[in-house]
Amino acid sequence: MSTTETWTVGKLLTWTTDFLKQHGSDSPRLDAEVLLAHARDCQRIELYTAFEEEPDDNIKAEFRELVKRRSAGTPVAYLVKHKEFYSLDFEVTEDTLIPRPETEHLVLRALDIAADVYKQVERPLRVADIGTGSGCIAIAFAKQFAAAELVAVDASEAALEVAHRNAIVHEVDSRVDFLKSDLLESLPDATFDLILSNPPYVSQAEYAQLPATVREFEPTAALVGGPEGYELIARLIGQAQPRLAAHGKLLIEMSPMLIERQSEFVPEQWTAEVVKDLAGKPRILVLSVAS
Ligand SMILES: C[S@@+](CC[C@H](N)C(=O)[O-])C[C@H]1O[C@@H](n2cnc3c(N)ncnc32)[C@H](O)[C@@H]1O
Repeated sequence: MSTTETWTVGKLLTWTTDFLKQHGSDSPRLDAEVLLAHARDCQRIELYTAFEEEPDDNIKAEFRELVKRRSAGTPVAYLVKHKEFYSLDFEVTEDTLIPRPETEHLVLRALDIAADVYKQVERPLRVADIGTGSGCIAIAFAKQFAAAELVAVDASEAALEVAHRNAIVHEVDSRVDFLKSDLLESLPDATFDLILSNPPYVSQAEYAQLPATVREFEPTAALVGGPEGYELIARLIGQAQPRLAAHGKLLIEMSPMLIERQSEFVPEQWTAEVVKDLAGKPRILVLSVAS
């Protein structure tokens, strides 16, 4: 990118798309637009009416820096510090996993179940989100389902701070308590109607195969579930059983491969329903204790 040429928005986007493509981005045009909109402090759509404008030197310098970091592998969400999840905007930092679209299926299924349970119990539901990260599951659920009190836990204090800020922005902080806890260990003595979790579930071997943009930038503790991948899930299931109400359900996101291997870590007394993602892959286990 020469500094003596006239660099209009249109030209910056064309050049950067090509540059990011050569540096391994699988969505180079989108990345270029999101980063330029961030540097210009505008909506992405506004770039389309500004193609002939030349951004000032500060904007160009900031954009150049963002593109440099993106080409070195930093995920766009960490560069702009935001990610959309369930049509809500979430702050993310390098202490939180970047929310993934697959996880929206967990929220959708949890909302369906919550509506059914609420009809039976006619009181606010008690819901726990284990390994809340940015808070995306608990907050999206709380936004959609007013008759619920939630507790969202994480082992990472830094992630909890981000999640708390997100709850304030989305005005659900009065209904979501954030707590540092190893899974359910430090939760108050209560039973839950729903326990939701997108826990770390990658095995050590899979971790080594993850794309560098994930491995080098997202928190390892948010990804690796143990040597086989399911160790943390097995512990979660064991802790959840005595904490679920009679009609309670435990919803856990995991890889399609782990869902296939569920008999290795889901004890026999549980019954399981499988929820598929948009690609038709098994993604969520909905567990309840057979009565
Ligand atoms: C896969 S991330 C999910 C984050 C968020 N719920 C989402 O869906 O984007 C897993 C989260 O679990 C947290 N975690 C890992 N081990 C934990 C443990 N033993 N107890 C509580 N949280 C844990 C990590 O810090 C991370 O935030």
